[in-house]
Amino acid sequence: MKHQPEENDKKTAGNHEKWIKIVFRPGNTSSVVLEGTNLLEAASQAGYIIETPCGGAGKCGKCAVRIVSGASEPSVSDKKLLPANKLNKGYRLACQTYITTPIVVEIPETCLRRPPLKIQTHGKSGEIKPLPRISSQILNLSHHLKGEIKSDADILMQVTGSNSIDLPALQSLPRILRSSNYQVTVIKSENTIIDIKPGNAEQKCYGIAFDIGTTSLVGILVNLNTGEELSIATSINPQTLYGADIISRVKMCRETPDGLSTLQKSILTAINGMINSLLQNSGVPQQSVYEVVFSGNSVMQEILAGIDPSPLGEIPFQIAFNDPLYVEARDLGLHINQSGKVLFMPQIGGFIGGDIVSGIIATQLDTFNKPVLFIDIGTNGEMILSYKGKLMGTSVAAGPAFEGARITHGMRGTVGAIEAVRIENGDIKIEVIGNVSPKGICGSALVDIVAVLLNTGIIDTTGRFLEPDELPADLPELLRKRVKKHNGQTGFEIAGGTNESEHVFIYQSDIREVQLATAAIRTGITLLLKTEKISQEHLEHIIIAGGFGSFIRPTSALRIGMLPDINPERILV
Ligand code: FES
Repeated sequence: MKHQPEENDKKTAGNHEKWIKIVFRPGNTSSVVLEGTNLLEAASQAGYIIETPCGGAGKCGKCAVRIVSGASEPSVSDKKLLPANKLNKGYRLACQTYITTPIVVEIPETCLRRPPLKIQTHGKSGEIKPLPRISSQILNLSHHLKGEIKSDADILMQVTGSNSIDLPALQSLPRILRSSNYQVTVIKSENTIIDIKPGNAEQKCYGIAFDIGTTSLVGILVNLNTGEELSIATSINPQTLYGADIISRVKMCRETPDGLSTLQKSILTAINGMINSLLQNSGVPQQSVYEVVFSGNSVMQEILAGIDPSPLGEIPFQIAFNDPLYVEARDLGLHINQSGKVLFMPQIGGFIGGDIVSGIIATQLDTFNKPVLFIDIGTNGEMILSYKGKLMGTSVAAGPAFEGARITHGMRGTVGAIEAVRIENGDIKIEVIGNVSPKGICGSALVDIVAVLLNTGIIDTTGRFLEPDELPADLPELLRKRVKKHNGQTGFEIAGGTNESEHVFIYQSDIREVQLATAAIRTGITLLLKTEKISQEHLEHIIIAGGFGSFIRPTSALRIGMLPDINPERILV
């Protein structure tokens, strides 16, 4: 059995490495780590995965944990991001804390990363006929093969019009032909035979489509013959542990030895886990999955393919490939049929990647006659303007505000997140994911609350919180009471409680973050319309996609100026 070092144990004679004990709560899990280990890493080793929207850069304040005993002096980042009352209670940023002494750590539930995220898995798209590269053919070869002097493979290729056969298929060919009395189903990928099954297995070819988001992953298992969707799996992209946005991932590939392989391995592990759960839920055998399609932004696709995305981190933001990229599933270590194929969606340019190409196909964007704008709102906002068969696109750095980062009480769309806010009977009414006590606010509600504050005159059109004596005279009393000074800032109390941890506020600094993200998206839209000389009132539709984008209320997005002023009914989410 592996030796579990005790605290202060000397690892080897002459090697004075010091091992230190940490106790994590909830769960009272003990762990022993080397002196100097980062607390984030120690927590992860003990099974506590802490959210790190800024990638552990000490900038977002979201990884604050409470050191119940053994807290060190607050770091500069601690003092900058955490209020004094929290510092006094022992709160420290996990990413900025290094273990030098035994400690007991309490990890707030809101810090822990946990699926399921609320992720859009389906949307509005036209009727699309599946056209997989995989095809199957039922054959009775008894007349062709019996007594022939040609090889099994030659006859099979001749009958099926193929020009090659994969080794795993060839290895099983003689046995399957004879044991099935020459009644077989041949599975082909274009002109290559990749599998052979006894009898009629024509309806048993499956594929998986993956949306590889910067933050979240969605996989759908599909019957390739019928197009039927059999199962859906979602997961957090584990690369978020290394940074919330694509730039921090590119930076890791550029600056960290093994950075690329670390990121690639982490996402492949998550994808194989999702494949396993899709197969378990549907009862489909692993060997019957012949194709996987990956769709993501350029950085996500290139890292997943094991391609160094460093050129995407500097002008002119060069992508490694444009055309559809075909690879063997076994080369990536995917847990599907050993001859299975993988397709990475084509990429148009720097930050117009495979995900937006998928959006164009799914919405049949090129078929609209009148101007239509397609927007994928995420950490990276991509948009395509379609007019008379011409497509024009751009992308903007919206930043992670809508993912909950850099927002004081922001969080991702997971259990406990306030996901909607509206005015009702002179007060606000909130909806919380999972119907539990609110723990924070996610992107869709952030857009709502800023719209509410504007509509009620609590903030002005520049985004400034009005002082109590400036508030509109007709502001309902219940709303007026929610505007208060809290933690030294003017804010609006969205949810309250007896404990400090139950308060959810939006502060002036949060409004400014929303304005920055909103301005980035609106700037992209304005430039596209200007370039194509189309005025906003001529837009037939705005189609919104994206993990967070699909949950925003069009009226709120219009109110805060994220979208051009068109009839909300023409906005499709
Ligand atoms: S401050 Fe620690 S992860 Fe952002």
